[in-house]
Amino acid sequence: MHSDHALNFRHRPRRLRRTPALRDLVRETHLSAQDLIWPVFLCDGHDVVQDIPSMPGVQRLSIDRLIPAAQKAADLGIPAICLFPYTDPSLKTEACEEAWNPENLSNRAIRALKAAVPNLAVMTDIALDPYNANGHDGIVRDGHVVNDETVAALVRMALAQADAGADILGPSDMMDGRIGAIRDALEDAGHCDLTIMSYSAKYASGFYGPFRDAVGASGALKGDKKTYQMDPANRLEALRMIGRDLEEGADMVMVKPGLAYLDICREVKDTFGAPTYAYQVSGEYAMIEAAAANGWINGDTVMFESLQAFKRAGCDGILTYYAPKVAQMLAKG
Ligand code: PBG
Repeated sequence: MHSDHALNFRHRPRRLRRTPALRDLVRETHLSAQDLIWPVFLCDGHDVVQDIPSMPGVQRLSIDRLIPAAQKAADLGIPAICLFPYTDPSLKTEACEEAWNPENLSNRAIRALKAAVPNLAVMTDIALDPYNANGHDGIVRDGHVVNDETVAALVRMALAQADAGADILGPSDMMDGRIGAIRDALEDAGHCDLTIMSYSAKYASGFYGPFRDAVGASGALKGDKKTYQMDPANRLEALRMIGRDLEEGADMVMVKPGLAYLDICREVKDTFGAPTYAYQVSGEYAMIEAAAANGWINGDTVMFESLQAFKRAGCDGILTYYAPKVAQMLAKG
């Protein structure tokens, strides 16, 4: 009589969803601590911990407070940390010289981390915004962000980070030609083994708002970043940017923001097969935290679900402010 049924009961997919053990057995993607890169905010001083109001649970740390936090992250199996400095406004200039000061906050933190937690990879950010009186990622002349002069500045910044001992350089500025220029300069300086994770497909996004508070760039920034960051409407352009950056010498590529751009992640992975990362940015974090604080969603469930989505979309890893929290939860099982 089975043929009379609309459903074919030879196939009951729910059989494999019945128990946690069966669900574990057929799970297609797995999130682990090894997938995570932890972005951290640095501030000057000693024994300083500053809350960031738009990112509840995230704090700016002075270097001495960062070290134990980084050690804990490494112990949990997190392979890399990514540094973002809050620069004193008095150090911001139009030429952004502080960006390549060997003794700037970020470079001091790299040295301290490599000395204290050598097995943790240290990633940097290469862009001028924390050091720029104009708040932009590039040098501003007559109201325009100038490309080639900015690239020259970024190269100096990259070399200072390389000399400080960084493991992964992360150009996030979206100037043209910066990957090739940085790669050539690294080779010339003997830093042939240094890896570059390019923020290749970085969109001009509203999701970066809380980050700009965290690094103190919101006040300085006039206008928007649409003349260098990508139009959120574009997909093929992202593929061209990824192809170009790999060609110019990037070892890994990134899509940013994350959740609203999962289609791009999948296509990048399928097209190039290169190590591909997504950045779950500050606004994504803030939205989850705000809804959870209101009791409107379960924050932990949504955190896991959103991170799992990046793995499902083909990403090799995720930059996320949740890294220590999720690694801790994964360790407990
Ligand atoms: C700066 C930079 C930004 C982020 C990482 N590097 C902000 C921007 O482009 O304005 C955003 C990260 C986040 O929102 O979490 N070049």
